[in-house]
Amino acid sequence: MPTFRAPRGTRDLLPAERAPMVRLEQVAGELAARYGYHPIETPAFEQAAVFERGIGEVTDVVEKELFFVGAREEESERWALRPEPTAGIARAYVQHGMQTWPQPVKVTMTGSMFRYDRPQAGRYRQFWQFDVEAIGDPGPAVDAEIIELAARFYREVGLSDVTILLNSIGDPACRPAYLEELTAYYRRHEARLPPLERERLARNPLRILDSKDPAVADINAGAPVATERLCDACATHFEAVREHLAALGVAYRLEPRLVRGLDYYTRTTFEVFPAWAAGQQSAVGGGGRYDGLIELMGGRPTPGIGFGIGLDRVLLALQEQPARIDAAEAILAPEPAPLAVVVGSDPADTATRLRLATELRGAGLAVRAELGRRKLGKQLEAAARDGAHFAVIAGDELAAGQVQLRDLEAGTQRPTPLANLARELQRAARTHHHGLEDD
Ligand code: HAM
Repeated sequence: MPTFRAPRGTRDLLPAERAPMVRLEQVAGELAARYGYHPIETPAFEQAAVFERGIGEVTDVVEKELFFVGAREEESERWALRPEPTAGIARAYVQHGMQTWPQPVKVTMTGSMFRYDRPQAGRYRQFWQFDVEAIGDPGPAVDAEIIELAARFYREVGLSDVTILLNSIGDPACRPAYLEELTAYYRRHEARLPPLERERLARNPLRILDSKDPAVADINAGAPVATERLCDACATHFEAVREHLAALGVAYRLEPRLVRGLDYYTRTTFEVFPAWAAGQQSAVGGGGRYDGLIELMGGRPTPGIGFGIGLDRVLLALQEQPARIDAAEAILAPEPAPLAVVVGSDPADTATRLRLATELRGAGLAVRAELGRRKLGKQLEAAARDGAHFAVIAGDELAAGQVQLRDLEAGTQRPTPLANLARELQRAARTHHHGLEDD
C-alpha cells in the first residue's frame, strides 16, 4: 500500500484520461467561441455566502456538499470551494458592473468543481464542468440557442444518442401558488415521507420533488406539476422556447417533474442524459434560466440562463457508448506518437542527440531525443516501441553534416544533409498521420 493516496472521491487523471479530457475542453472552447461566448475565470473558492445565497440554503449542494476552506484564525471569512460556476459568475457580474456592458454578457468557463458528494461511479468530489452563461437576455430565443449549443457539444464529441429533458418551473408570480399546492399534497402523504424530506416540507417542498430517494418516487409520481400551473407570462415564454427549438430542429422530451437541484432556477430548465442510461444519477449536463440570481447577488434585476456539462460523465459515457462513432474515437484516441526519435551510434553522446532534437522541435516538430546511454540497437527498439515514424541516426557522418534518416515503418534508410532534415520531416509530417490512427 502506498503511504499517500488521492483523497476519497477524487482521482488522478493520468495521461490516458487527461488527454481525452483536454480534447473535450478544446471542443468546448471552440464551440463557445463560435457562439460568441467569451472565456472567464473566477476563483476556485468564494465566500461561502455566495453559494448559500445563490444556490439556496435548502439544497443538497449547500446543506451537505460544500467543501469549506479553512481560513486562518485571524480571518473572519468563511470560504467554500465552488460547487458550480454560476453563482461565482453572477457575483463577478455584479462586482464588475457588467450590467453597463452590452447585454447579454456571454461568458464561458471550463474547470473543476467540488462537491462533498457520496462518491460513486460518475460522481466525484472534484469534477470538471464546461459552463456557459448568457446574462441580461430575458429570452425566449436565447433559451433555445443555449439548449441547441449544449446539444451540439454532445454531437461534436461523438456522444450520439442523448435525451434532452425540458421543463418550465415558473417564476415568482406563479411559483407561490404552486408551492402551496405542492405542500398541501405532501402534507397528505407526510407519514410516508423519510425524515429528511419531512423536514424539507416546510422549508423547500420543491426539493422533495427532486429527491432521489426511491421511497419518495411513487409519492412524487402523483404530485402536482408546475407546467400545468404556469402564469400567462411563463406559459407564453415556454411556448416560445419550444417554437424556437422546433425551428432549430432540436429534439427534446417534456419532463414536467424536472426541477433540478439548485434553487436559483426560474422558467426554462433542462437536463441531458445518455439515451441508454435513464438513471437520475447519470445526467451529463443540465441548466436553465435564473432570472432572480443577479438580484440575489446584490445587482439590479437581470435575467440569465446557462448550462453546465459534466465532462467526467461525458468521458464515461463515450467509453460506455455502444455505437462506434468517429468523433468519439478521435476524443478517446491515445496521444499521438512522436514523429521522430533522435538516436546515435555513440551511447555517451547525449549532447548531440539533444541538440538535434532541440533544433527539430524549434522547427515545430514532435521529436523525442534518446537521452539514455544504451546501445544503438536498443535505442532503435525503443523508438519503434514509441510508435515513432522516423529515427534520426547521428553517427560518424555528422562531421560531414549528414545523418541517417530511417523510416521505421517502411524499414528504409537514407543519408540526409542536416540542412534538409527539418524540411524533410515537415513534409513527412504533413502527409503522414502518425500514431495509432493508421491502424
Ligand atoms: P448541475 O446539474 O448541478 O448544474 O451540474 C451540471 C453537471 O455537472 C451535471 O449534469 C453533471 O454532469 C455534472 N456533475 C454534477 N455533480 C457531479 C459530480 N459530483 N461528479 C461528476 N459530475 C457532476 C450546475 O452546476 C449549474 N451551475 C448549471 C447551470 C449553469 N445552470 C445555469 N447555468
